[in-house]
Amino acid sequence: MTAPHPTSSQIPGLRSVRIAGTGSYLPEKVLTNNDLEKMVETSDEWITTRTGIKERRIAAEGELTSHLAAKAGLKALEMAALDPADIDMLIVSTITPDTITPATACHVQSQIGATRAVAFDVSAACSGFLFAMEVAKNAIATGAVRNALIIGAEKLSAFVNWTDRNTCVLFGDGAGAAVLLPSENGEGRVLSCHLGSDGRQAELLHIPGGGAACPITMDNADRHLATLTMQGREVFKHAVNAMRRAAETAIQGAGLQTTDIQLVIPHQANLRIIEAISERLGLASENVFVNLDKYGNTSAAAIAIAMDEANRSGAMKSGDNVLLMAFGAGLTWASAVIRW
Ligand code: UT7
Repeated sequence: MTAPHPTSSQIPGLRSVRIAGTGSYLPEKVLTNNDLEKMVETSDEWITTRTGIKERRIAAEGELTSHLAAKAGLKALEMAALDPADIDMLIVSTITPDTITPATACHVQSQIGATRAVAFDVSAACSGFLFAMEVAKNAIATGAVRNALIIGAEKLSAFVNWTDRNTCVLFGDGAGAAVLLPSENGEGRVLSCHLGSDGRQAELLHIPGGGAACPITMDNADRHLATLTMQGREVFKHAVNAMRRAAETAIQGAGLQTTDIQLVIPHQANLRIIEAISERLGLASENVFVNLDKYGNTSAAAIAIAMDEANRSGAMKSGDNVLLMAFGAGLTWASAVIRW
């Protein structure tokens, strides 16, 4: 892009914002690489060496994105000791909504009893959780709302072409969430956030059908138009470059150096992408959180699930500078630094 994308860091006069609780939920059903060998022409060896993925979770029939989101959201609220009825803002980031309208956030609102919240979705694919975080952070920072529940949730299994080995081995279902509050003691404070997009590259990774541009009809129903298609190699290159640049911008926005970062939580799409970025940024692999072997790429949910696992497992400790970075369809990218 020609102009730089904005980075928000702490603006004097605005309230600091912290993450007060995290939660995640993964559906029970596990689909392994060996299972996929029986479905398409692939192998555990190919999937493992090219992506690092060993298995992924698949939602049950009738188990929707909103159901996964609600379960993750309730766990985050429990950790933050906040009642659903006290939430002011509820944002769901997803590319696999229950319905085109209303927003999945409204379905979640109804399920958890977040009766006073303003509820809406953001669509920024794998970067979406951080887009939601920035919107919520700014709303709290200005005093427009007192708190927010942000959720990244996906039922990608409903939008995958299960006959296309290029994509079906990559994705999984799940949800992660966080509660944002004004910062009183400084812990969990969001130090900086950076978002970006480049719509010129939209067709590298998209779901071409199912919208107004290409409704699904009797005549095209057999063409899998309402499923994800990706030019993997091209997306790979953009992902490495955009996430590296985004990471540097967020670190700078927080007034830090790369060496000040204790933990990195990257988008969980491909281990080779994560390794390439870590190498370019000079990050030690033991400081980079990876769980894509268990869940595959869960798009907007990936960073949120990883953050919750890092939080609950103690990988993220009080006082750590934690770097989050994401990349996805749009193209979109996002990064943030949190003082845990
Ligand atoms: O979350 C949003 C961002 N998404 C990403 O960041 C994903 C970015 N892209 C990637 O992670 C990788 O490009 C992939 C994992 C999708 C593909 O890996 P690759 O090393 O780029 O493979 P490729 O697409 O260049 O394909 C190499 C070969 C091809 O065969 P030929 O043409 O060389 O004979 C493919 O047909 O691997 C073949 N192939 C497979 N073989 C076995 C593609 N998928 C499979 C498969 N099993 N599942």
